[in-house]
Amino acid sequence: MTMHEARSWTVSAEHAVTYRLREVEGVFDRGNDSVARAAALGAGRTLCVIDATVDRIIRDEVRDYFAAYGASMELLVLDRGEDRKNLDAVVEVLTAMDRVDPPRRARPVVAIGGGVLLDIVGLACSLYRRGTPYVRIPTSLLAIVDAAVGVKTAVNFGGHKSRIGTYYPALVSLIDPALLATLPPRHIRNGMAEIVKIAVVRNRALFELIEANAERCGTSAVFTTDTGRAVIAAAIDTMVRELEPNLWEAELERAADFGHSFSPGIEMSVLPELLHGEAVAIDIALSVVVSSARGRLMPRDRDRVLSVLHRLGLPLCLDTLTVDLLADALAATTSHRDGLQRLPLPTAIGACEFVNDVTHGEITAALASLRAGHETTTRVAQ
Ligand SMILES: NC(=O)c1ccc[n+]([C@@H]2O[C@H](COP(=O)([O-])OP(=O)(O)OC[C@H]3O[C@@H](n4cnc5c(N)ncnc54)[C@H](O)[C@@H]3O)[C@@H](O)[C@H]2O)c1
Repeated sequence: MTMHEARSWTVSAEHAVTYRLREVEGVFDRGNDSVARAAALGAGRTLCVIDATVDRIIRDEVRDYFAAYGASMELLVLDRGEDRKNLDAVVEVLTAMDRVDPPRRARPVVAIGGGVLLDIVGLACSLYRRGTPYVRIPTSLLAIVDAAVGVKTAVNFGGHKSRIGTYYPALVSLIDPALLATLPPRHIRNGMAEIVKIAVVRNRALFELIEANAERCGTSAVFTTDTGRAVIAAAIDTMVRELEPNLWEAELERAADFGHSFSPGIEMSVLPELLHGEAVAIDIALSVVVSSARGRLMPRDRDRVLSVLHRLGLPLCLDTLTVDLLADALAATTSHRDGLQRLPLPTAIGACEFVNDVTHGEITAALASLRAGHETTTRVAQ
C-alpha cells in the first residue's frame, strides 16, 4: 500500500470454459437430434440467425427441422459480407434478440453460416445480457476449420480488421462437412488457406496430405471422401491443440497468427477484392520467402509451400500490392502485438520461430521475388 492509498482490495478469479466441437452427419436431418439437444429446442421461441445465401439453399430443411422438434423459430436472415461486417450488423442481431427475449441461460441462439456470420452473432451473444449462450453451425470450410474452433468474435471498425471483439465461446459447434457441397470453389480454396496456415507451422503430416492431394483439395467434392474428412479432422485437431493452452491470448506469440501479420492490412485495403483466406495465402507466401532469404527455411521447403498454395488456386501476390502497404500492415500488427512484431516464420514444414526484426528491405526483396517468380498467380481466380 502506498502513502496515498487508505485501503486496497485484490480480486482474483478463474475463468475456466468448456465447449465442444462435434462432427455430425446430416445436421438438419429430422432424425438427428444434435441441434435440438444443443439448442434446447422446445417450448418458447428460439432465435435462429442464418446467412442469406445459406438460407436460400437450406431454408426448408431448417424450418422443417425446427417444426419437427416443436420449436417456434424467429428467423433472422443476415445478408452481410466482409465489407459490412460492422457494429450495425451486431445491432441488427441484438435487436432480434430483444424481440425474442430469450431466457438468460436456457435457450441458446442458433447461428448458421460462414465466418462473417459466426463472428457477428458471437459478438452479439457475448453482449446481450453480458452473455447469452449460442450454438454455431459453420457452413463454409473456413468457418469449420477456424472461425468455429476458437473463442473469438469480432467485427471490423474504423477501417481495421476485427478491431471490436470479445472472447466468447459457443456452447458447441456442430460440424457437418456435407454442407460444403454448395460452397463455391473460390470459398473452398479460401478455407484451404487457413488449413495450409496451421499445417505449415504445426503439422507436417497434414501439409503432406494436402500436398499429395492439392488439386482435389481445391474442390468441394473432396470433402465427401476420406481424404477430405481427414484434412478437416486434422486441421481442427491441430487448431484445438494450438489454441487451448492460450485461449485468452495472454501470450502474444501465437503460431495460429501465421499468415495473419500482413494479411489484415492487405485484406482491408483491397476489400472486397480479396477474401480473408486469399489475403492469408499472400501473407504465407511472403513469410516463407522472408524466412528462406534469412537462411532459416530451406529453399526446397519454401518452394513446397508456394507450390501447394499455387496448386490449390490461391494467390501468392497481387498486382496492387506495394512495399509501403505491407510495411504499414506489419506496423499495425506490431502495435496490435504490444510493440513487437512477434512474426511467426516457418523454420521447416511443421515448425516456426518468432522474430521481431523483419526490415523494410526484406519486405521489398520478398515482394520482388514473389512478383518475379509467380507472375501467373497474381490474379485471383473466381
Ligand atoms: N473468429 C475467428 O477465430 C475467425 C477465424 C478465422 C476467420 N474469421 C473470420 O471469418 C470471416 C471469413 O469467413 P468465411 O470465409 O466463411 O466468409 P463468409 O462468412 O462471408 O462466407 C463466405 C461466402 O460463402 C457463402 N456460404 C457460406 N456457406 C455456404 C454454403 N454452405 N453454401 C453456399 N454458400 C455458402 C456466404 O454467403 C458467403 O458469401 C472473416 O471475416 C474472418 O475474419 C474468424
